[in-house]
Amino acid sequence: MSEPSSNKTGLPEPAWIRLIRVASCRSDAGTFVERDGKELGVFVLGPGQVFVIDNACPHAGGNLSAGDVAEGVVTCPWHQWQFDLSTGVCTDSAAARVQKYPARIRDEWVEIQTSHPCN
Ligand code: FES
Repeated sequence: MSEPSSNKTGLPEPAWIRLIRVASCRSDAGTFVERDGKELGVFVLGPGQVFVIDNACPHAGGNLSAGDVAEGVVTCPWHQWQFDLSTGVCTDSAAARVQKYPARIRDEWVEIQTSHPCN
């Protein structure tokens, strides 16, 4: 049995969780995924560019996975707030942000860490 990997603190890294097959994701927009009671927006924008955020807009709950995406920014379809997918921060006000999760692609699956210390 292999040892869990650890980070600089020596603490075990949170496990990576398979979320959705890359082939099931839209290539030009977000894809809604519900997992363990969390509603997520998954954005696979190109090779090595995968982002996972909470799907509900922090303004009033808009469906971010249904928003337009351009240059790494998603626009909420309800009132057009915009969020940088690499940080989760609103482009108009750094005080507004959406939860972003560490994400990667492994074996054609999008994987996330939901209990990362940065969350
Ligand atoms: S609900 Fe997203 S901008 Fe209003």
